[in-house]
Amino acid sequence: MINSFDVAVIGAGPGGYVAAIRCAQLGLNTVCIDEWQNAKGRASLGGTCLNVGCIPSKALLESSENFFRLNHKFKTHGIKVDGASIDVPVMIARKDKIVTTFTGGITALFRKNKINSMHGKGTLLKHDKEQKSWQIEVNKKTGVETIQAKHVIIATGSTPRQLSFIPIDNKQILDNTGALALTEVPKRLGVIGAGVIGLEMGSVWQRLGAEVTILEAMPEFLMAADTQVAKEAYKVFSKELGLSIQTSVDIKSIKSNESGVVITFKDAAGDDKTLEVDKLIVAVGRLPNTDGLGAQQVGLKIDGRGAIEVDEHCRTNLPDVYAVGDVVRGAMLAHKASEVGVAVAEMISAIEKGDKREFKQIDPYTIPWVIYTSPEIAWVGKTEQTLKSLGISYKVGQFPFIANGRARAIGETSGFVKVLADATSDRILGIHMIGPYVSELISEAVMAMEFAASSEDIARIIHAHPSLSEVLHEAALGANNRALHI
Ligand code: FAD
Ligand code: NAI
Repeated sequence: MINSFDVAVIGAGPGGYVAAIRCAQLGLNTVCIDEWQNAKGRASLGGTCLNVGCIPSKALLESSENFFRLNHKFKTHGIKVDGASIDVPVMIARKDKIVTTFTGGITALFRKNKINSMHGKGTLLKHDKEQKSWQIEVNKKTGVETIQAKHVIIATGSTPRQLSFIPIDNKQILDNTGALALTEVPKRLGVIGAGVIGLEMGSVWQRLGAEVTILEAMPEFLMAADTQVAKEAYKVFSKELGLSIQTSVDIKSIKSNESGVVITFKDAAGDDKTLEVDKLIVAVGRLPNTDGLGAQQVGLKIDGRGAIEVDEHCRTNLPDVYAVGDVVRGAMLAHKASEVGVAVAEMISAIEKGDKREFKQIDPYTIPWVIYTSPEIAWVGKTEQTLKSLGISYKVGQFPFIANGRARAIGETSGFVKVLADATSDRILGIHMIGPYVSELISEAVMAMEFAASSEDIARIIHAHPSLSEVLHEAALGANNRALHI
């Protein structure tokens, strides 16, 4: 007999596993199919984010930041430590333990919520119009099983974009998985792509003592960020951390031999250059993953970028099939995947109950971005350059961390907060931050934007003293020309 479910979720990353939990909470009989296999060949729920993305990268960022502080920042506190060293295998084992704790935690959450978990590849087979259900084949280690479900949520995520002339072996030439598993600090590390992964992973290994060179194809550094934030980041990363970042680079060839990797490229001036490194990380973006899903045979529409086409409610062109997370358009971020997963689960539950109300839509402009470098970078809403290009009149309030007591006490004074508000209505249009713990401060900005706040609203809220949040407060005051401490 074929096992039958209300909802089948394909993929157990932050899009899929969160959608599955919400479906189960709402009383839907749910199965989640995931094919992820860890280094030991075992199922490991949580997708890219938990296994080789958000969580392990932040663990290494924290370890390396502690090492950097010990070597370079503790002296000013009067703390002297001689002969500090880093035991990379211990650091990696700590990271691995965090990963297994969290991936195991999802298994427990599935059990608690009575979600059926299947380890294997899910493929859409066909839709039975009469029964209004989908047949899905699950290719498991133990054999093939076919199940059926009334609704399908596809959350198959993304995989690293490959450059045809750069063969990833995860020994010398690494993608994000290899970059998180090095067992010693390379003396010379090359990174192709000054995007989010390149900057985070480059920071980790530079702080631990590697000499890191990042080669970026675009002429501008961090183009997605506010230009002023990007300029400040470039300055701090180059001067304080010592990262070498080269833009407008055209990679010509990559060759690896026993002693390392040789990269030939044209630099910004058009001159031929050679860079020799011990290891090379390639981080040139990620692509939606629809591999083996059976998209073609069931007629699932895929766009020019390889993403599954969806409407504003994440409905695909097929009946009762939804798609969320990295596999659809928009930001490739874990929190976007999860929030949309929840929205789709709630919509399916409402449909099942015959509820025809308007469903929640996710506003792409209130999805926060964070880059976990030091200083951290975070933003929500529109950048100043976007506002200019759209011809929107705006006002700016900006306040530096150097003028904030808490930042001084912590000893992290680089950066600033910038509030952009509509020139007439004062409604906040974007908030951009670079500085200590801005990954935490950004939530206040997101809340303000979700509630359609004005900069005056933030300016009138009492912020604890001394706290880093006062920098946002002062920037909001600044948007109305009434900053107090500058
Ligand atoms: P994924 O997490 O990719 O999960 C998809 C799952 O589906 C996988 O387990 C895959 O094996 C499975 N699957 C695929 N096809 C099938 C199939 N046919 N059948 C069964 N299973 C299938 N985002 C942040 O917000 N913050 C961060 O700090 C952050 N750091 C990152 C660091 C790195 C190094 C990387 C690589 C990414 C990072 N991201 C971060 C991005 C984040 O990981 C992704 O946006 C997020 O994982 C997307 O979630 P998802 O559920 O769409 O897909
Ligand atoms: P990315 O899109 O952030 O950056 C890729 C960079 O590579 C770009 O700057 C691009 O111009 C450059 N590039 C492309 N081709 C190149 C070439 N041939 N030569 C040199 N440079 C080239 O992609 P990345 O860093 O791979 O990360 C993928 C995604 O994962 C991110 O966009 C983000 O969505 C997610 N992520 C999020 C994190 C976070 O939220 N903190 C952390 C890490 C990843």
